[in-house]
Amino acid sequence: MSIQTLGILTGGGDCAGLNAVIRAAAKCAITRYGLSVKGILDGFEGLLDEPRFMPLDTGNVKGLLYRGGTILGSSNKADPFAFKRVVNGRVEVQDRGDEMLRNVRRLGVDALLIVGGDGTHKIGLRLLERGVPVVGIPKTIDNDLGATDVTFGFDTAVNIVTEAIDRLQTTAESHHRVMIIETMGRNAGWIALQAGIAGGADIILLPEIPFRLERVAEACRRRVGMGRRFTIICVAEGAAPIGGTQTIKQIVQDSADCVRLGGIAEQICGWLETQGVGECRATVLGHVQRGGAPSAFDRVLCTRLGVEAVHAAVRGDFGRLIVLRNGEIATASIAEAVQQLRRVDPQCEMVRSARDTGVSFGDE
Ligand code: F6P
Repeated sequence: MSIQTLGILTGGGDCAGLNAVIRAAAKCAITRYGLSVKGILDGFEGLLDEPRFMPLDTGNVKGLLYRGGTILGSSNKADPFAFKRVVNGRVEVQDRGDEMLRNVRRLGVDALLIVGGDGTHKIGLRLLERGVPVVGIPKTIDNDLGATDVTFGFDTAVNIVTEAIDRLQTTAESHHRVMIIETMGRNAGWIALQAGIAGGADIILLPEIPFRLERVAEACRRRVGMGRRFTIICVAEGAAPIGGTQTIKQIVQDSADCVRLGGIAEQICGWLETQGVGECRATVLGHVQRGGAPSAFDRVLCTRLGVEAVHAAVRGDFGRLIVLRNGEIATASIAEAVQQLRRVDPQCEMVRSARDTGVSFGDE
């Protein structure tokens, strides 16, 4: 099947590099293949009610390489196959799949590039099953997709957290404090692990390695015993003590992802202050990790992914996710990819190397 009009949408939580993907895909589609490109607005939400899109051309994608966010907008609420709406205080779930399919046809989109995380790609798969030719590009700052060496946005997030830890190091030293920095990472602690190592954190707490508060306090005291008068703890939002549960900040009923995590740094901070380890302060980086310009690594990766996604669509290689394997761009089945969550292996070399430089994971 030959395609003339390519649609592109960005779904789920944003991250640095989405615009760089949009730019690369649009440029390649237009200049290499002469296609017309429609950017769907606000993720799948743009395919409900009156469809909303913006035509993309080489003019309006200028300057996107280094611009954070997504000019198309995104949504992590709208799963058209299970659309949640709060009516009179109660959540109603509606299947709006047919409406979405009608709108894809109305827009005259022959193939759709979907840029998102596992939630977005699960919706993409259902569209594919219903006959919409789909190519996926994986995105998540959590870097928890097994099918690819790395997801874009992750490197930028690690750099942001590393810089924040560098800054906390100096103020921690001035005031002889324990500084606890909370990063994103619901079920996978890649950001906390890599930024923790890069920033020289003394204690790193991950969802994959349940910790004991007593061990965390001991590690702080050990540092005092060694004459170090400050400690940096880097904790992923999804980390939890042994036998405990993740710290929930909020439950959002009409969201696809109802549970919002957050607050573990404050909890540890409050508890440590009662343990005679000195003054403690908590810093939550939150969405700062997802904003701003992508790193050079992410810009290159996004460009390669966006271009290859267009090649795949033109080849008719649908149902595939564009990934990075051993440094080379490759494709993987979307259906298989969404099943393979990649978490930090507590025995992996990176964790062992950190331990061998004296980092505590709060478990031993
Ligand atoms: O999945 C990526 C992620 O950044 C998680 O680490 C975090 O819990 C979540 O998104 C936050 O998303 P929201 O935009 O809904 O606050």
